[in-house]
Amino acid sequence: MKILRISITIILISLGNLLFAGDGMWLPLLLKALNEGEMQSMGMKLSAEDIYSVNQGSLKDAIVHFGGFCTSEVISDQGLLLTNHHCGYSQIQSHSTLENNLLKDGFWAQTKEDELANPGLFARFITRIDDVSDDVLKGVTKDMDEVSRQSMIDKNIDSIRGSIRLKEFHDIIIRPFYQGNQYFIFYTVTYNDVRLVGTPPESIGKFGADTDNWVWPRHTGDFALFRIYAGPNNEPAEYSENNVPYKPKHFLPISLDGVEEGDFTMVFGFPGRTNQYLPGAAVEQIIETLNPAKIEIRETALGILDEKMRADEQVRIQYASKFARIANYWKKWIGESQGLVKTNALDKKSKFEEEFKMKNKDNRENVSLLPQMEQLYKAIEPYAFTRDYYSEVASRNIELLSASSIIGRLVSTFENNGVDAYNRFLPRIQGYLQGFYKDYRPEIDKEVFAALTEMYANNVNAMYVPDQLKNKKGAKGFQMLADEVYGSSSFTEMDKMMAILDMDPAAAVEKIKMDPAYKLSSEWGSMIDEKVNVPYNEHKAKLDEYQRKYMQAIIETFPNRRFYPDANSTMRVSYGQVNGYKPKDGVCYTPVTYLDGVIEKYQPGDYEFDVHPKLLELHEKEDYGQYADTNGKVPVCFLGSNHTTGGNSGSPAIDAHGNLIGLNFDRVWEGTMSDINYDKSICRNIMVDARFVLFIIDKFAGASHLIDEMKLVHPKAE
Ligand code: ARG
Ligand code: GLU
Repeated sequence: MKILRISITIILISLGNLLFAGDGMWLPLLLKALNEGEMQSMGMKLSAEDIYSVNQGSLKDAIVHFGGFCTSEVISDQGLLLTNHHCGYSQIQSHSTLENNLLKDGFWAQTKEDELANPGLFARFITRIDDVSDDVLKGVTKDMDEVSRQSMIDKNIDSIRGSIRLKEFHDIIIRPFYQGNQYFIFYTVTYNDVRLVGTPPESIGKFGADTDNWVWPRHTGDFALFRIYAGPNNEPAEYSENNVPYKPKHFLPISLDGVEEGDFTMVFGFPGRTNQYLPGAAVEQIIETLNPAKIEIRETALGILDEKMRADEQVRIQYASKFARIANYWKKWIGESQGLVKTNALDKKSKFEEEFKMKNKDNRENVSLLPQMEQLYKAIEPYAFTRDYYSEVASRNIELLSASSIIGRLVSTFENNGVDAYNRFLPRIQGYLQGFYKDYRPEIDKEVFAALTEMYANNVNAMYVPDQLKNKKGAKGFQMLADEVYGSSSFTEMDKMMAILDMDPAAAVEKIKMDPAYKLSSEWGSMIDEKVNVPYNEHKAKLDEYQRKYMQAIIETFPNRRFYPDANSTMRVSYGQVNGYKPKDGVCYTPVTYLDGVIEKYQPGDYEFDVHPKLLELHEKEDYGQYADTNGKVPVCFLGSNHTTGGNSGSPAIDAHGNLIGLNFDRVWEGTMSDINYDKSICRNIMVDARFVLFIIDKFAGASHLIDEMKLVHPKAE
């Protein structure tokens, strides 16, 4: 029997007028069928074909996957690329030295010759998207077991790959959608010569730092400029001095007219991951069990780091970026859990599930899906909890253990693949360790170790606690353990570690294996693999199967509703409006912030809220050029109800006519549960206003040559 395939497109063409729910990360090639009418009714003047076309230049040709982790967009006919400061952070940092500190002072290439190369950074375009579900699912039947199903799919994907001829730098990506019910293919072309053109100083690009992260009102100019270079004939090429600026099929004009509450907005980019179709049981587990554990661990680690960073400027510099990384999701999870509770996510899920069960009361298979998933989520919980706990403690927050597991790869490479493989791998480990030790303080890490190992021993089932952490008498016991490990490990010091790596391979491996940090890390890791990851993966595979069947059943059960696929780092369009929100009783946020607000937050000398003298001067003189709003003030950030997630950083905010109006970089804290349960009332994305970007480039940096290559427009005047 051929599996019953869901034809989402066809179902949806027959949709009547639906109330816009606000959520959705839509596939560009399905906009015509699913969204065009609604988008136009919200004010959009474009057609779906203007956004995504394979026949002519369209908006999608200006949208670029930036390094595979962020989004960026082309904003001139010379390949100029706009993305977030936090997306280009490691490139900006890599060009910085004490004497020439781009992070602190900013950087503006005066000529193309001054633009800075970034080995490893790529810019990837999508040239075409197709539905390949029929080909990928060919021969897959409903009664197939999961292993046969997957191997059939793998075989089909291989044969699709084999049938497509690809030029150098061109590739295809085939991904499952709707939890594996549909498959789409993305044709890509990748440019590997991407140079840094300009960045504001951190005091603008990261203004408000962690205190303001995920928060409204926001005043961060989170942007940076890069440029794509091409080889002969505008084709991709590896970096070469002879490369020339890339000529795009399309670039985004920039609107000088700004935004008002209610204006149509669209965000186009590469959202990473969402989980919109979890059953209530899974959401409850996130709220009650998984998030609290992760939050508590990070809070402990951050508390220790914060104290040390405040006491010592050198430590602050060394730990700033690590602190920001840990703090980012710590804060997100707190907001997510609170938002899920505040918007009654569990009630909504259970109402939906009741309805699903009712409508399926005569379908035994569908009716049994939810109880079965519920059982599976219960069964996986101890493993999921321990897995998260272990990964937060040992791979994320105790640096010595995360370094140990990387050093440990030398041991496994030597033992499994021999000395040649070891020698080939060694330089990569040495390179990694150079960077690691530059910012490493063993005395601080030791405190984190003592605190987190104690938490692990107290909170994780004794079955999964390694012997080394057992029978410690309170905090003292863990401090003694930390003294022992850090006192006798060679991994805490660069010189000792590098000396080991200078030894001949067999001797180095022996020495590593004797090290107490290696022993703890590898024994702990193997125990987790065996006792936790094996059962976890078994349950997870079952859950994936049920989630797929549940997704299919949902779509079939509600043929008049429209469902969008979870984010999976593929190209998507979200749309909404410029909108403020009411996070709690008595509080109402307006959707636009201004430079005046930067000055309100100004704290001279503070590392998060200092303001550059030049910016103070421009504000003082109200020297805003053409970039002020009709009220005479320079806008900085604005809010929209576009459904976004991590990976949408750097995505363009586009107006009704296809012009750039802003640059997405964050969401509001109260609405970060949009990854699981979007709620129009409090889910907002945060964008830098395009006029602030232009103001900084032109007035602050004096880089008017960059403004000259852009196309500035006045859509509202027409
Ligand atoms: N919250 C934003 C995102 O998830 C910005 C993170 C970078 N900024 C920071 N202060 N950590 O990526
Ligand atoms: N800052 C996030 C990014 O990297 C975007 C914020 C979000 O998660 O929506 O992609």
